[in-house]
Amino acid sequence: MYIDCTDKELFILKKIAHAAEELGVPCYLIGGFVRDKILKRPTKDIDIVCVGDGIALAEKAAQKFNSRPEVHFFRNFGTAQIKFEDIEIEFVGARKESYSFDSRKPAVESGTLEDDQNRRDFTINALAISLNKPDYGTLIDPFDGIADLGRQIIQTPLAPAQTFSDDPLRMMRAIRFANQLGFSIEQKTWEAIAESAKRISIVSGERIADELNKILLSKKPSVGFDLLYKSGLLQIIFPQMVELAGAEYIDGKGHKDNFYHTLQVIDNISEHTNDLWLRWAAVLHDIGKPATKRFEEGHGWTFHGHEVVGGRMVPKLFAKLKLPQNEKMKFVRKLVELHLRPISLTKENITDSAIRRLLFDAGEDFEALMTLCEADITSKNKQKVKRYLENFEMVRRRCTEVEEKDHLRNWQPPVSGELIMETFQLPPCKTVGDIKNAIREAILDGIIPNEFDAAHAFMMEKAKELGIG
Ligand code: CTP
Repeated sequence: MYIDCTDKELFILKKIAHAAEELGVPCYLIGGFVRDKILKRPTKDIDIVCVGDGIALAEKAAQKFNSRPEVHFFRNFGTAQIKFEDIEIEFVGARKESYSFDSRKPAVESGTLEDDQNRRDFTINALAISLNKPDYGTLIDPFDGIADLGRQIIQTPLAPAQTFSDDPLRMMRAIRFANQLGFSIEQKTWEAIAESAKRISIVSGERIADELNKILLSKKPSVGFDLLYKSGLLQIIFPQMVELAGAEYIDGKGHKDNFYHTLQVIDNISEHTNDLWLRWAAVLHDIGKPATKRFEEGHGWTFHGHEVVGGRMVPKLFAKLKLPQNEKMKFVRKLVELHLRPISLTKENITDSAIRRLLFDAGEDFEALMTLCEADITSKNKQKVKRYLENFEMVRRRCTEVEEKDHLRNWQPPVSGELIMETFQLPPCKTVGDIKNAIREAILDGIIPNEFDAAHAFMMEKAKELGIG
């Protein structure tokens, strides 16, 4: 075998090879599995192409496993999938594809292995390995993809304009692979991306989101975002992020380029977390800056309220980018809204009450918020960075002290709404909410401790004040 496989993988490949032999259809390993094996990266899914009916081969192969895996097939696409333990195996019949200009739906005809390799996106993804008896394990590499793996280059097997016109998502895939693998994009391939960028608009938002997330999850996402920007793709898929780019000057006073600042924050946070949504919070933390930018005489550039405006933009942006409209989105919104709060607590003489309010507002996302704030430090001045980090350390210390005392991070009201209703024979109404809020404010202001007895006494007093006690 040209590549090193685990015993489990070899076991699977032998079963497929036998099934193919019985059907009399030549079959090959192809795509990401071959690429990643050669690069010694972890692999999971196995792609198989056969010169014949891919669905029939999947069915035959499934019978060879004692576990008799279910065959999922897509008759329209001529593809089938089976799963063995944690490994997904995709089967497809070798094909020629031709696409019309305004659609992603190809006209498909069956073809040879070479036809199939021709229709693939990049030379490094078109490498095939034979699973057939006469030449089992041999590499079939018509475009010298192996050399491109060595030279660390992404290029298309055919004329790049053709490959990208066949499926414009491949422009984003080129950038994603360059980013994930640390490769460069070959000049002609790059020029074709810049020329065809507008065509990304025919691709579904879900596929675009998938690639964006993969870029964001790579080791140094700034590389991918910068390539998206320079190719013109970002302008189409995520124009609000492009709005952050550039620095304006008035009376010799400028502000920082918030696009490159954001890229730095994304890279910084990526050193500390693999959480996709925390990384999205880094992408969006300053997204409200363009809308709030002002030049104030004698003062310079300001972005007052950008955290609130930015937070409000999050649900719409998530919808546009086909990201989930759920807890993840709320988490990102919350972090964008709160990202300046810890900084405001780095001044001297900060009251316990201000610390309590941060703990209360951040809740269980306090650590994530502090990680974002620390990533937001992008000054080149080492002294300044050291001072800012020390300040945040102090905020963390104060928060730990106050939390130990007051337990506000996962705050539950010490007196429930039910108890208020029961005590004063009230139906659910505004007064109940008012009393609950008054108790919470009293705790946050340090007027009463976060305990049942104190809260109960406060409730009685408050009720008297309202004339219901
Ligand atoms: N492919 C393609 N054009 C696309 C998508 C996929 O030519 N738009 C081909 C490539 O040969 C690719 C293979 O189909 O290697 C499998 O696609 P996929 O599983 O999406 O990508 P992988 O290369 O396996 O990489 P990853 O799993 O990281 O996405």
